[in-house]
Amino acid sequence: MFELERGENLGAALNNTLSDISSDVSVKSSASDLLALALVMSVARCGDLRVPLRLGRIDATEAGPLGVPEAHTDLNATRKAFEKAGFNQEDMITLVACGHTLGSVHSVDHPEIVSGEVAAENIAQFDTTADKFDPIVVTEYLNNTTTNPLIINANDTLNSDKRVFGADGNATMIKLKDPAVYKTQCEDVFERMLDLVPAAVTLSDPLQPVDIKPYIDTHQLKGNDSIELIGRIRIRTTTTPPIDPSDLIVTLSYLDRNGRRSNASIPTTIGTFQGGSSFGYLGENFNWFEFKTTMPASSGISAFDVVLTSHSSGAVTTFDNSGTGGYAINPYILFQETNSCLEAENNFNGTLTVVAAVHKSKLQSNSAPQLKLVRRVPLPRSFIPKLETESIPLESASAETGEFAYYKMMVPLGVASWRTSFDIEIGEGAAAGKLEFQDTSELLGATCATLD
Ligand code: HEM
Ligand SMILES: *[C@@H]1O[C@H](CO)[C@@H](O)[C@H](O)[C@H]1NC(C)=O
Ligand SMILES: *[C@@H]1O[C@H](CO)[C@@H](O)[C@H](O)[C@H]1NC(C)=O
Ligand SMILES: *[C@@H]1O[C@H](CO)[C@@H](O)[C@H](O)[C@H]1NC(C)=O
Ligand SMILES: *[C@@H]1O[C@H](CO)[C@@H](O)[C@H](O)[C@H]1NC(C)=O
Ligand SMILES: *[C@@H]1O[C@H](CO)[C@@H](O)[C@H](O)[C@H]1NC(C)=O
Ligand SMILES: *[C@@H]1O[C@H](CO)[C@@H](O)[C@H](O)[C@H]1NC(C)=O
Ligand SMILES: *[C@@H]1O[C@H](CO)[C@@H](O)[C@H](O)[C@H]1NC(C)=O
Ligand SMILES: *[C@@H]1O[C@H](CO)[C@@H](O)[C@H](O)[C@H]1NC(C)=O
Ligand SMILES: *[C@@H]1O[C@H](CO)[C@@H](O)[C@H](O)[C@H]1NC(C)=O
Repeated sequence: MFELERGENLGAALNNTLSDISSDVSVKSSASDLLALALVMSVARCGDLRVPLRLGRIDATEAGPLGVPEAHTDLNATRKAFEKAGFNQEDMITLVACGHTLGSVHSVDHPEIVSGEVAAENIAQFDTTADKFDPIVVTEYLNNTTTNPLIINANDTLNSDKRVFGADGNATMIKLKDPAVYKTQCEDVFERMLDLVPAAVTLSDPLQPVDIKPYIDTHQLKGNDSIELIGRIRIRTTTTPPIDPSDLIVTLSYLDRNGRRSNASIPTTIGTFQGGSSFGYLGENFNWFEFKTTMPASSGISAFDVVLTSHSSGAVTTFDNSGTGGYAINPYILFQETNSCLEAENNFNGTLTVVAAVHKSKLQSNSAPQLKLVRRVPLPRSFIPKLETESIPLESASAETGEFAYYKMMVPLGVASWRTSFDIEIGEGAAAGKLEFQDTSELLGATCATLD
């Protein structure tokens, strides 16, 4: 993002890709992790590749050194650039053969490479199957039918693919023409390319699709001394054996604020949004179950298990978040969504009002609850904002309900931050607590209900 204007990075594709991912950049997802996800998903969809997705990359804050190889770069310098990144000659050939199976060279960016008029529609594909991740780029090279513009250019200086592919007398290319070898070799070099991170960065284990994924949409106090809990459970049904969603009864078994299991259970109904189903990029199917319930504010909820019961067989499976005591909910800090809002004063500036209900047992006289608001600061000529977390004390709203006291904060918020996230933190030491990663996007255009 800091190097877009360099000659070595010509092409709208880079800017367009950053634009595509920008709204998903958050304190939990760096732009570099989202780019890794983009590669993993696209090669899964275009070629059924399985590239492990590890997360934890930290975005750069400035440009790096020059030196991305270009079409005219000689083979020695190109080899050096790959070596610097830990790739030997065979890896280099493999990376280029795996990269140049999708897409094309654009005449608007590279009129010296693409013959004919300079026009958006004049592009030269690397192989005849530019939308498929396959070894056709390799076989067309080996059988002399290629129209790859980086091989057949009349000006040999610009034939970088020809130099790279032939660097070891075609030994690697001959191996790669076997589709099974091509696939596993591409998976290997892509994994190494994505996981090449500075020493100080620790990446996670590869992500796996989970069977159960709960979402809490609303967890707030109602005036009548009850807590409203609204959410959804995503269930993977492409398991072995597969699950028939119409045979499922899904309930939540939960612990109250003091960790005692409630004798009541929370029912769910089969989802309605988008037919109650969705799918993942590795062929997973998911079905959604929704819940909306109230419970006495005096007991609350601190965690829940998801209980699946088969209608037909009566078999019961309990998911307790991998033995961690259930899916946790902070029972002491409630984000009062209906009392909060984001009022747009004009198309640029707004005012964010956040109201929280804090359990009185957690209040400490010497430390006010804090809102950790993430501001998305636009950077010049880039879609990816800089994320700055501002700590803002919440003030007593001079209102309370039962065991909870209300806190409130109002702050100006520019348009770039209208969809952002915040945490609410209370207390210090052993009494400290945190409500993480709340979302402002539902607040836009809402009116703040008054506290009564
Ligand atoms: C010697 C190294 C390389 C050189 C000289 C090179 C050169 C180029 C050039 C000149 C273009 C055309 C850009 C445009 O007109 O938009 C291009 C496109 C492309 N390259 Fe490379 N490349 C190299 C390595 C790689 C590697 C290692 C990958 C991926 C692993 C890769 C993936 C791609 C893709 C996907 C496109 C198509 C972009 C589009 O359709 O918009 N390239 N490359
Ligand atoms: C490339 O490097 C090799 C050995 O490192 C050297 O013999 C050769 O002359 C170099 N070629 C060019 C074009 O610089
Ligand atoms: C060359 O390889 C391509 C891709 O595998 C194939 O479609 C084409 O028929 C081959 N042509 C010749 C002349 O072998
Ligand atoms: C490698 O393959 C290309 C394309 O078939 C061919 O032109 C070239 O002569 C081959 N190189 C060697 C050393 O065989
Ligand atoms: C492609 O061209 C090279 C070099 O002229 C030749 O060695 C090779 O046999 C050709 N391959 C095919 C499949 O025609
Ligand atoms: C071939 O391309 C190189 C690199 O762009 C350029 O310097 C050279 O003048 C070109 N040669 C011809 C004959 O056009
Ligand atoms: C509180 O009001 C909600 C509707 O706003 C209702 O569903 C719930 O049963 C009430 N709870 C109690 C404890 O009265
Ligand atoms: C749960 O237990 C309480 C107290 O033991 C009892 O009053 C209540 O009826 C029970 N509720 C259900 C749903 O069983
Ligand atoms: C938005 O607020 C800032 C700071 O208060 C102010 O400088 C700017 O003029 C405002 N923009 C609009 C369009 O009102
Ligand atoms: C990226 O695209 C946006 C919107 O089209 C544009 O404002 C910006 O200047 C572009 N950045 C670069 C470096 O081309």
